[in-house]
Amino acid sequence: MKKDPLIDQDIEAYLKKHQAKDLLRLITAGSVDDGKSTLIGRLLYDAKVIYDDQLEALKADSEIHGTTGTNFDPALLTDGLIAEREQGITIDVAYRYFSTSKRNFIIADCPGHQQYTRNMATGASNCNLAVILIDARNGVIEQTKRHSFISRLLGIRHLVVCINKMDLVDYSEDVFEQIRTDYEDFAARLEATEINFIPISALEGDNVVDRSEHMPWYTGAPLLRHLENVSIVSDQNLIDLRYPVQYVARPHPDFRGFAGTVASGIIRKGDEVLAMPSRQTSRVKSINTFEGEIDEAFPPMAVMVTLDDEIDLSRGDMIVHPNNLPRLDPDFDAMVVWMNDNPLEVGKVYTFKSATTTVPGRVESIRYAINVNTLHREQQSELTVNDIGRVSVKLQKPICHDPYSKNHTTGSLIIIDRVNNLTLGAGMIIERGTPATKPATEVSKATEPTSKNIREEASLVGAAARETLLKQKPVTIWLTGLSGSGKSTISQALEERLVQSGQAAYVLDGDNVRHGLNRDLGFSAAERTENIRRIAEVARLMNEAGLIAISSFISPFTKDRVGAKEIIGDDRFIEVFVDTPLEVCEQRDPKGLYKKARSGEIKGFTGISAPYEAPESPDLCLDTTRLNVEACVHAIIAMMQDRGLIA
Ligand code: ADX
Repeated sequence: MKKDPLIDQDIEAYLKKHQAKDLLRLITAGSVDDGKSTLIGRLLYDAKVIYDDQLEALKADSEIHGTTGTNFDPALLTDGLIAEREQGITIDVAYRYFSTSKRNFIIADCPGHQQYTRNMATGASNCNLAVILIDARNGVIEQTKRHSFISRLLGIRHLVVCINKMDLVDYSEDVFEQIRTDYEDFAARLEATEINFIPISALEGDNVVDRSEHMPWYTGAPLLRHLENVSIVSDQNLIDLRYPVQYVARPHPDFRGFAGTVASGIIRKGDEVLAMPSRQTSRVKSINTFEGEIDEAFPPMAVMVTLDDEIDLSRGDMIVHPNNLPRLDPDFDAMVVWMNDNPLEVGKVYTFKSATTTVPGRVESIRYAINVNTLHREQQSELTVNDIGRVSVKLQKPICHDPYSKNHTTGSLIIIDRVNNLTLGAGMIIERGTPATKPATEVSKATEPTSKNIREEASLVGAAARETLLKQKPVTIWLTGLSGSGKSTISQALEERLVQSGQAAYVLDGDNVRHGLNRDLGFSAAERTENIRRIAEVARLMNEAGLIAISSFISPFTKDRVGAKEIIGDDRFIEVFVDTPLEVCEQRDPKGLYKKARSGEIKGFTGISAPYEAPESPDLCLDTTRLNVEACVHAIIAMMQDRGLIA
């Protein structure tokens, strides 16, 4: 690119032109070998003339205005970093700056090794666009998916998938199309976002700055042109005014100013405003900056606001418009990226920092962790380094917040260690009710439907008609016992035996149900209670349909089993205690979970670090150290026959 002649002709005009340009923050993600450095190098190199020019210009500017001497202040380019530095987090993100005649760019360059989740989460938090690099020879790999997912999670709306090293696959359109299809298959499960695919060779320069001569089949724009033109205006939230107060300045008795950075929305002189949490109202008297008073301010401007009235407002509070309030609540869900080698512990007190507020609180439960490769939800009792999961947070006092999707400042938080002050994790607050899962504790307290306008309908088919049809009396065989006691094995053998002899029976199993109906539940006492309640409701429905339900859950608490009996009905609930001593279960350890529990990898594991209350008078007790599976099944069938449930 050529030097802008304006530099020599009219430096003031040149500076104006550049200041007026907007800024695109982008992140590049990919493994070391994907050619990331080469790509960044090429972008910087090809835009270098402008970069140098502008550096010159900025220096000139400093001299003209006499503000910072002749030293160009690099802090301008790394503003996002300061807050993280203060938090003592070790990050490995390099910020680079370049500029073309259309736009200014900041690239957050995150190394693709080990700590990529942490680095990306830090580097990408205020980016507009992510460039995802794929090596054309390897196609879509796990890291591609991880990076794409994190980009979406952080609210980046524009993804550019650069399929690099096209020169090494003979610039083949087929290879490009195959990778595009693979990626689209995966991306269909990411929330809607704008995705563009560009075939490039960073090394040879194809489609980076200049259009490639080798790939006439590609009709889209080269990368740089795309970066210059992608529309990012609508990415800013200029609607909901959120002005978190950073500090209160009172240089003399007649002046009380509230300093802060506009997080979203526009604040104007004369606006009626409301202070959270005091809910007192006033009007904006003035908006001040170093350059003097202004009429309005928008993100990310740092200003000093004065109000007409003396109202209750201090650090951590928020100025908003009266008809547009954030949530003020100590409870919320957040998607957390965990960054520390010590896992996130449920129930432990941490410091939570959001905008300008700092409050102690805890994670009440881990609803699920995300398997980034498959995008499936998985049950985990803790989050370890690089894990991403949805958690329920309870703070010791309410804070003003918004969903991250609406506001990246008031919707994000960091989790800090109370002792050494290290940042352990970053979180994004999730909109209420997405997806429709209330905290289990809340649900389990409900004994009535949420609406009074719900009435039960009776079936026209009686239980007797179904019993005749299916030749069985429906019951629930409720197996309880430790993990590894043999519940699943026995229930599966029992189901097989019953079905083979013409009975309609079906197994409800802990590990299975927790993949579907109860996938929002973890292993806290409250969640186990809710787990059992829902299972009991399902078993009841199955019994009403005439089926024999075989339920296979640890169900460690007596009160939960009593509750299940109430739901299913005394005469239909048959409690079978699979009585295997802990030592035996632990020795069997079929899923390797006891080992993990002993090493502390799983917290709150039944028998090791969570209680199991054995039933006092079960209908049947199976000692699996003496009875084999066949004998256990036989004992259950015999009991069912004795009671006249089956022939
Ligand atoms: S229950 O306690 O709520 O009844 P449930 O039977 O549904 O438990 O699920 C138990 C299964 O989840 C175990 O067999 C094991 O595979 C898995 N699991 C994972 N974490 C735990 C944990 N902390 N405690 C017990 N089981 C766990």
